[in-house]
Amino acid sequence: MPHRNNPVAQRNIPVVPPSDDKRWRVVDATMRRHGYAQSALIETLHKVQDSFGYLDSPSLIYVARSLSVPLSKTYGVATFYNLFRLKPQGEHLCVVCMGTACYIKGGAKLLSSAEQLLNIVAPDTTPDNAISLVTARCVGACGIAPVIIYDNQVAGSVSKDQMTAQLKEWLKSSSSV
Ligand code: FES
Repeated sequence: MPHRNNPVAQRNIPVVPPSDDKRWRVVDATMRRHGYAQSALIETLHKVQDSFGYLDSPSLIYVARSLSVPLSKTYGVATFYNLFRLKPQGEHLCVVCMGTACYIKGGAKLLSSAEQLLNIVAPDTTPDNAISLVTARCVGACGIAPVIIYDNQVAGSVSKDQMTAQLKEWLKSSSSV
């Protein structure tokens, strides 16, 4: 069923979700709520990521067509913001805070040590899908900088040794599965 308020649909170009997965209904509801306005792009991409875990090409194409946003702009937004993932997230998530307080207290060094250890450049996921490494601007815990979030657990005053131990632990547990 074409979207009534969707300008692309009004031009009789069918805009069909990438699959019949029910999660697309949630995404569609978000776009409908905003009248398929182009300004709903970021919120819609968030909804896709919340629903599916990441943004793949078919998702980006679908959102771009539904909101009549050029595909290049949609890719641009998806790649500009660190919050968006273009690949499935790894088994574990390591978020290194790069806000000012954390940066000053050694966040950048922690990040480059993590990148070296994992042999990836954030934001990315190790080839075995064990660990995703991303950065954040400020996670609201500046008093305990530098901060890293390990699988939703906030760790403060993180040292390189502590971080290395955690990442190695994750790598070990995932290779022993
Ligand atoms: S800058 Fe890292 S928590 Fe605020």
